[in-house]
This record gives sequence, structure tokens and C-alpha cells, in this order.
Amino acid sequence: MLSDADYFMVETGDSILDLQAIFGNANPVYIEIGSGKGEFISTYPRFHPEWNFLGFEVRGKRIRNCLKKLSPAVNSNVRLVERAVNASISQYIAPESIAGAFIQHPDPWPKKKHHRRRLIQQDLLNSLAGILVPDATIQVSTDHQEYANWIVEEFLTSPHFISIYEEVMQEEPNLDNHVVTWFEREQARMGYPPNYMLFRKI
Ligand SMILES: C[S@@+](CC[C@H](N)C(=O)[O-])C[C@H]1O[C@@H](n2cnc3c(N)ncnc32)[C@H](O)[C@@H]1O
Repeated sequence: MLSDADYFMVETGDSILDLQAIFGNANPVYIEIGSGKGEFISTYPRFHPEWNFLGFEVRGKRIRNCLKKLSPAVNSNVRLVERAVNASISQYIAPESIAGAFIQHPDPWPKKKHHRRRLIQQDLLNSLAGILVPDATIQVSTDHQEYANWIVEEFLTSPHFISIYEEVMQEEPNLDNHVVTWFEREQARMGYPPNYMLFRKI
């Protein structure tokens, strides 16, 4: 009998994933980078059974948190990958095969000497631009003001993305059926409300 981990976990190497085979259909595929404890990946896809969702999370403990919230009967349009997303994502995800991306509260790495570890950098944006379909959107949120400014700068200097909103940072969620993640709830409780951003691939 298949365990839930067998059902949900997708192994990646250096070759292109067959998304249609993984999900058993040709529905649009969205990715989440940094699924954390799994609030979003276990909830939002239930509002969109016509889409598939691939959640990436680098930490095994967090993958186990996600798995606890998922069941094949309820979350058949979700799969997980235990892997650090970086610019190499375009080596195992086909060009123009992803309908959109969600990046919620990426680690801010606040110390200047750690800024190079930040997820959102030009090399990642170049790779994401390659795997996203034209007009795909990337939804980003962060409660960290300085990282928020950094993210805006990275997206607006990228030749591949524009902000959907004239006021790039929004105080209100810009998604239907907004899911408050664990990190968003904790940070808001400590007095750090989120900024939401929505970018479109051009
Ligand atoms: C601050 S937490 C936010 C988790 C969740 N999105 C939320 O809002 O509650 C950041 C998460 O991203 C994961 N992460 C960090 N870098 C990553 C990467 N390059 N690829 C995939 N996951 C990553 C961390 O392990 C952590 O679970």
C-alpha cells in the first residue's frame, strides 16, 4: 500500500519532470516555494481543483509538517518536492510549463553579510521567467520591510516582470481565498504585518 509520502513526494534530479505524468492530467501547474508548515499548500488548492500545485520545501521537518496536513482523498492536485529552489529549477522544470508561483514569507536573511543567501535574486528571477508561461503571476509576501524593498527592487529591475499594482506593496492580500500561513500569523502577532506583491511575467 502507498504511504502518503509515496503519494505526495516527487523526486527530482537533473532531468525535466513530466508534470502531466505526476498529476495524471494536463491541468495548469502552480508552484509554491517554501511551503513551510503547509497551511497554504493544504488549503488553497482545494479552492482550485482545476489547477495542480507543486510545493517546494528544503527542510525535511517542514515537509513532514506539510504531509500531516495532506491526504490523497482531499489534496489530489498537490505534490511536494524536498529541495532548495534556486536558479537550477529550469534544469528540471520545462520551459513555459508553470502557470504561476507563490512565495510567501521567504527567509529574510536580515544581516547584510547573509543577503547573498536571499531567495529572490536576479538569477532566480531569470530561471523563473524561463519556466513560467507568458502572463504568469508571482505572488510574494513578506513582513520584513527591508527585504520587501529588496524584493521590489529585484523584480522591477528584472527585464522579465512588471508589478500588477501601481503601488507595488499592498497591505491587503491580493489573492482570492487568502490563506494566513503560520509565519504570517506569528509575525503579525508580534507587530510585523505582511506586505503583499503581485508581479506578472512580460
Ligand atoms: C519563513 S518560512 C515561511 C514558510 C511559509 N511560506 C509561511 O508563510 O509560513 C520560509 C520557508 O522557506 C523554506 N525555504 C527557504 N529557502 C528555500 C528554498 N531555497 N527552497 C525551498 N524552500 C526554502 C524554509 O525551510 C522555510 O520553511
